[in-house]
Amino acid sequence: MRSLPYSVAPRWTAVLLLWAAFCGLFVPAAAVKHENFKTCDQSGFCKRNRQFADDVSASSSWTSPYNLVPASLSFNKGQLEATVLKTINDVGEKVPLPLIITFLESGVARVTLDEEKRAKGQITLRHDSKARKERYNEAGQWALVGGLDPAEGAALSETTDTGYTKVVYGKGGNLQAIIRHSPFSIDFQRDGETQVKFNERGFLNMEHWRPKVEKPVEEKKEGEEEKKEEEKSDEPKGEDESTWWEETFGGNTDSKPRGPEAVALDISFPGYEHVFGIPEHATKLSLKTTRGGDNAYTEPYRLYNADVFEYEMDSPMTLYGAIPFMQAHRKGSTVGVFWLNAAESWIDITKVKNTANPLALGMKGHTDTQTHWMSESGILDVFVFLGPTPQDMTRQYGELTGYTAMPQSFAIAYHQCRWNYVTDEDVKDVDRRFDKFSIPYDVIWLDIEYTQEKKYFTWDPLTFVNPDQMQKQLDKRERKLVAIIDPHIKNTDNYPVIDEMKKKDLAVKNKDGNHYEGWCWPGSSMWIDCFNPAAVDWWKSLFKYDKFKGTAHNTFIWNDMNEPSVFNGPETTMPKDNLHHGNWEHRDVHNINGMTFHNATYQAITERKKGEVQRPFVLTRAFYSGSQRSAAMWTGDNLAEWAHLEASLPMVLNQGISGFPFSGADVGGFFGNPSKELLTRWYQAGIYYPFFRGHAHIDTRRREPYIAGSPYTEIITQALRLRYQLLPAWYTAFHEASTTGAPIVRPNFYVHPEDENGFAVDDQLYIGSTGLLAKPVTKEGADSVSVYIADTQPYYDYFDYTTYSGAGHHTVPAPLNKIPLLMQGGHIIPRRDRPRRSSGLMKYDPFTLIVVLDNDGNASGTLYIDDGETFDYQQGAFIHRRFDFDGKREILTSANLDVSSPNSKALKYIKSMEKVRVEKIIIVGAPKGWKNKESVVVMEEGQKESKRRKPTEIEYHAAEGKKAAWAVVRAPKVGIGRGWRIDFGDKGAGHEHHGHEH
Ligand SMILES: *[C@@H]1O[C@H](CO)[C@@H](O)[C@H](O)[C@H]1NC(C)=O
Repeated sequence: MRSLPYSVAPRWTAVLLLWAAFCGLFVPAAAVKHENFKTCDQSGFCKRNRQFADDVSASSSWTSPYNLVPASLSFNKGQLEATVLKTINDVGEKVPLPLIITFLESGVARVTLDEEKRAKGQITLRHDSKARKERYNEAGQWALVGGLDPAEGAALSETTDTGYTKVVYGKGGNLQAIIRHSPFSIDFQRDGETQVKFNERGFLNMEHWRPKVEKPVEEKKEGEEEKKEEEKSDEPKGEDESTWWEETFGGNTDSKPRGPEAVALDISFPGYEHVFGIPEHATKLSLKTTRGGDNAYTEPYRLYNADVFEYEMDSPMTLYGAIPFMQAHRKGSTVGVFWLNAAESWIDITKVKNTANPLALGMKGHTDTQTHWMSESGILDVFVFLGPTPQDMTRQYGELTGYTAMPQSFAIAYHQCRWNYVTDEDVKDVDRRFDKFSIPYDVIWLDIEYTQEKKYFTWDPLTFVNPDQMQKQLDKRERKLVAIIDPHIKNTDNYPVIDEMKKKDLAVKNKDGNHYEGWCWPGSSMWIDCFNPAAVDWWKSLFKYDKFKGTAHNTFIWNDMNEPSVFNGPETTMPKDNLHHGNWEHRDVHNINGMTFHNATYQAITERKKGEVQRPFVLTRAFYSGSQRSAAMWTGDNLAEWAHLEASLPMVLNQGISGFPFSGADVGGFFGNPSKELLTRWYQAGIYYPFFRGHAHIDTRRREPYIAGSPYTEIITQALRLRYQLLPAWYTAFHEASTTGAPIVRPNFYVHPEDENGFAVDDQLYIGSTGLLAKPVTKEGADSVSVYIADTQPYYDYFDYTTYSGAGHHTVPAPLNKIPLLMQGGHIIPRRDRPRRSSGLMKYDPFTLIVVLDNDGNASGTLYIDDGETFDYQQGAFIHRRFDFDGKREILTSANLDVSSPNSKALKYIKSMEKVRVEKIIIVGAPKGWKNKESVVVMEEGQKESKRRKPTEIEYHAAEGKKAAWAVVRAPKVGIGRGWRIDFGDKGAGHEHHGHEH
């Protein structure tokens, strides 16, 4: 249905749909089982809170029952504390809710609201439950790693109006929080302008604890009676008691021993038309509204990590991971909120158009975005970011939750996976074929079938007879193996892993405190509980080489099914009343569960052998805020359909701006057999995923790149070579992500935050800070794409230097063998041009620099390299250069960006790279004046005086039609880790500009 244009009138839509269904055109090959997953209406607290919001909105007399008690207010060292009282019934009973607002040094504000009675444990649980009584308040312990220093400079501001408390904070005091007492609400302002509003619409709702009032049993059948209770409720209109004490879905009953305890709040962004973030959903980057109407969803965005089989496109349905971080963007400003809650959550989004006020001349109409956040349990804990740039968002969010771990260099090369390579001989054979066809790849993967009967940490003795030898063959070309290990442990006899896990009591428990048993790949299984530090310690012991025999230093791990996926559980996951370490209910920690598991695996890989130090690689399917510190993610079980290829781009872009940029989708599509064209296009798009892996379901035909045949295999190989050629640029982008939080692939709004026309553009991407702009083909039969250019710089075709300039859409040819890739003027792009079989074999290869001149004839860029393997870079063992081309002086320089003083590790690394040189420099958009130039003067620091000034050949190619002029310096031979300059000017070597190295 979604493939029909919106402009088609409704009547004709119906006719078209009928016709389409008749022809079988739009009948999907596979579809998500909607009945397996809750709608908001089927999720008690979501239904209750939506109803509450509707009642509040419909009432003209209603006021929010939350009031801050002024006498309770104190302010000390950047932290405000007070009590908010919730009035709950006609007699005015009041529920105390402790409020803490912390103003952080970074300019971020954190608001938490708890419930005193639960916090003090003064409640009783039903069904003799052993669950904790508090609202869950430990999400921060897993998600946050820094940025929590309170701002000493934050101060209460004097106000004459007693209805408000005002706090001034931020650099230079440009931020303010205006806390209104009755009803309680907060406005966050920057430079005197309100950017974010809490409880503006009065949807704040902390479902306080209450005992279940057993009604006298009338002469009625049991079971029927509970449903009727709501009629006698003294709660305000709209509170529906039917889901307070028990909920049943798909044959599973949640016992809810603590009763209702949802937390909800409305958060508005006045003047912001676009909101982004809250992955993971298969939807557009600019989030749609969720309460019906044109081109809108009717369901809220859901965050409840789940194994959603054959998930659907253009949907707010939950997927495998959750990052409750949202950004609002308009010209001149980006702000955001991070809703730190690990329970099932739903987010409604609505937009209000304010038309221009005819009396206020010059005032343009604007749009406000309103959001409504609802979580099933836990405290209210929200961070507010006031920007003002997209870069501020990703940096500040990263300060709190951590930046992307710097991966090993192989991890950003190509990964070859399928369910399954069936024997060790099969793996070796695939490995040989890649070589035979000269196709580069770095990693081959093993899905679940390598194990003996799905028992992790074992090998099937019949099919994987000699894993050591298999890995030796891979290691010859510096290739790696990734093997899957899931969190469900087969519950069977003669399996030491399950015996130990049971004996040591390290499994997740059911509501009665016994080890929870469910169904997954191995059949009956139990789940490791990585909230338990003892479980993590034990997990680490399982990966030691002498324990997990057959693995080696080049074996890495894939953690799948860690939502967790439980085939016979409610919504294919665990019952919410299961118990984790510390007796927290699964309900409270669900969205964090997957992260604790992949993090445990990460730790395990660092400790496989004493003295062995290398950066781990772990792929995870489930994730939460903070997962970026220890894993890469992929978008799960997609389909071999064009729509899934298309959807992968906004999904990967969204991961990038949401702090978890090491992401990708299964190339080719997991389920089904892609046509050769689709497979080829998917490779051409996949080379732009930060995590780049081909994968396929067990029922699909083999589709390794060498299988498709001519011309597809050659075209796919070209795409792979392009990825490998640009690995230095990718690695530099990863380094930037790991130090500043900037996305690895970036959407238009992030790069051009002032360009209103491009805010919703989500089908093209920039690679790091390189100015490389890619627009993958996602439509069948396409022979061109329309690339959106946001600025007035020249953009050059990567391959033939055709120039595109002027803001707006440009048609770029894209026959099957052409990958639309442009270079924005103003950048210097590092590459390695020698084709190799794996990235490991490129370690000492020379570099090529592409100098892409901007309108003023200038360009600059950076390069980061290290050993790609160990943690020595943390002690300074890296090369970090900045290249500048100064158009006026016509001088290209390389300067050091490493500000630390070199220690022995650093010096040793630099020495190891001494012979690695720049073998070629290409200047795109070269000045006409170079037409007759034959040589340039190369000067390198640290060379003998006689060698310092060296004329080197340059070749000039004049512009031809739309193709820009370019020049190439064939063999500058300057050291990649050195300071140097190349003088392109007529006057030869400058005498006055020595020593660019400091
Ligand atoms: C990851 O592991 C480290 C080391 O064991 C631990 O300190 C940290 O809390 C863990 N984080 C998560 C999210 O599990």
